[in-house]
Amino acid sequence: LLFGGCNEKEAPQKLRVGVTYYDQNDTYLNELIGLFKESLKEIESDKLEVSVTIRDAAGVQKNQNDQVEELIDEGCNILCVNLVDRADPSEIIDLARESEVPIIFFNREPVAEDLRQWEKLYYVGADAKQSGKLQGELAVEMIEENPQIDKNKDGKIQYVVLEGEMGHQDAIIRTENAVNTLKENGIEVEKLSCKIANWNRAQAQNRMEQIIGEYQNKIELVLGNNDDMALGAVDAYKKLNYTSAALPAFMGIDGTEAGLQGVENQELWGTVYNDKEGQAKAMAELAAALFTREGMEDIHFQNEKYVYLPYYKVTAENVSKFTQGNLVSE
Ligand code: GAL
Ligand code: CA
Repeated sequence: LLFGGCNEKEAPQKLRVGVTYYDQNDTYLNELIGLFKESLKEIESDKLEVSVTIRDAAGVQKNQNDQVEELIDEGCNILCVNLVDRADPSEIIDLARESEVPIIFFNREPVAEDLRQWEKLYYVGADAKQSGKLQGELAVEMIEENPQIDKNKDGKIQYVVLEGEMGHQDAIIRTENAVNTLKENGIEVEKLSCKIANWNRAQAQNRMEQIIGEYQNKIELVLGNNDDMALGAVDAYKKLNYTSAALPAFMGIDGTEAGLQGVENQELWGTVYNDKEGQAKAMAELAAALFTREGMEDIHFQNEKYVYLPYYKVTAENVSKFTQGNLVSE
């Protein structure tokens, strides 16, 4: 009370965020991390200064373990980790625990058991099952409204899947749920081929060229586990000079810049928005709350440690809402 009038300014606290992600060639993650940086700027105040260091693990878990050690040595007080191998976080967890630095895992979900290794471990991401289901629903709507998709009119939809990485929570689960949703809605389907293309556009183009070589005009629907792979499939047909009437229907997931543009150009029939703005914001708020020990009660956890942002369906009709980046809060 005596000194109440002095009004001396307290020095701001310094939040130092260390990020490491599995591969700098991943389109969706680059967009997500760009937004995360913006969200961290937005939480700055006269009480809180924020800095961020970002490392690319280049697809090697050992690199990432070393990066975590360096980030801690450099004084990071919160870590955001996008694991290379989602089944192998133990070394990272041990390093963080020794230095009492909380970890927010994101996008590549560790198994539940690992997240229980220490109380300061969290996850921010989205529910894989929902994305598959929404992709399936979009395909159902599209097939019902456009009977010409069944090109050979045999009453079945001949489809191809381009799948993400093996062992990734968003790969098999998306495929299963998309296909099951088609079946549950009475669409008869026939699988022609399923190939792994590791989320990558060039790999997907290559796989699709092989598939076209084998099945030619029989393919009616291409389900991509993400937009880059759906667009890679489109690239394959372009390269082979197919006319638009001969093309199958392509569906993606993510709503990356290129994906949304694909929907706008009607190269993709639809995509499922992987809410990067929402995830970036949730990560920034959680980082600040863990660091300042204030505001944890405002975060919407599931099972105390998980923050899942919902997916949204995107078609030519509503795509403009997403390209303007203002879907959140609807
Ligand atoms: C998925 C996303 C993919 C890829 C992957 C990387 O959620 O849909 O495009 O970014 O994460 O872990
Ligand atoms: Ca057919």
